[in-house]
Amino acid sequence: MTQTIRKAVFPAAGMGTRFLPATKATPKEMLPLVDKPLIQYGVEEAVAAGCTEIIIVTGRGKGTMEDHFDRAPELEASLEKRGKTALLEIAQSVSKLAKITYVRQPEALGLGHAVLMAKELVGDEPFCVLLPDDIVDATVPCMKQMVEAFNRTGSSILGSEVVEGEAISQYGCLDCAPVEGDERLLKVRDMVEKPKASEAPSQNAIIGRYILTPRIFSLLEQLTPGAGGELQLTDGIKALLQYESVYGFTYEGKRHDAGDKLGFLKATVEFALKRDDLGPKFREWLKSFPL
Ligand code: UTP
Repeated sequence: MTQTIRKAVFPAAGMGTRFLPATKATPKEMLPLVDKPLIQYGVEEAVAAGCTEIIIVTGRGKGTMEDHFDRAPELEASLEKRGKTALLEIAQSVSKLAKITYVRQPEALGLGHAVLMAKELVGDEPFCVLLPDDIVDATVPCMKQMVEAFNRTGSSILGSEVVEGEAISQYGCLDCAPVEGDERLLKVRDMVEKPKASEAPSQNAIIGRYILTPRIFSLLEQLTPGAGGELQLTDGIKALLQYESVYGFTYEGKRHDAGDKLGFLKATVEFALKRDDLGPKFREWLKSFPL
């Protein structure tokens, strides 16, 4: 029987250099899409997938994330006193989302190293990894789709999307084969990091959603750090392939790279247009905006 997925790891200790100067003193993960920080979208997605324990890998200067998911007694008391019940509900609901634990990554030594920081907190069970700057807008939350795929296979699952043309050279790329009878699953043979488009084994890119079996931790520990002392998660998963089946999963939904300025702007516009309270007026304003 496959084990239940209960824990989700959020690597959030990176330096966010693509978003400077905003990220000099503010964590990238706290940038808001309309009015909600990026990391909260991810945590809500993990909770919707059935996770009850959230592990956030943080670093220096990232304390506002902890405050965000904590109670805010002064704010709550003030809102209550003024009868602002809807706002009170919003403020309180964030701290009730899940049990959240924090672990520090002392130096940004790569995504694989960040995941390794969660080893003790995860223990010997399969777990999810969500990169908070990949925001997936989907009818069924992306990680929920992936947990269902994990329940079918009992194996590690890598979130994947088909990208067009040259774009594959910006991603990890799957060397994979279709799985009969399951149109979204791909059996992974190998992975290539940022291949030239002409040499890419497929157009199936790896995105910031993973379900991994706990064997990944010992494999990450055995990796030799690459350039800049970084441990790559992809190298750990490549090692995992020698022991276990790994699948790609083409999720249903639309992904935004909100860690990139242009991607963030596009996501902001799309999310604002979808909002009942803001959408109609924002659409009207956009139409009248002289381009
Ligand atoms: P990114 O490469 O998108 O984030 O890593 P970054 O390094 O912060 O951003 P840029 O490229 O300099 O703009 C994906 C996720 O992995 C985390 C980041 O915080 C981000 O959420 N990460 C990355 C770590 O937690 N530790 C690391 O050493 C590297």
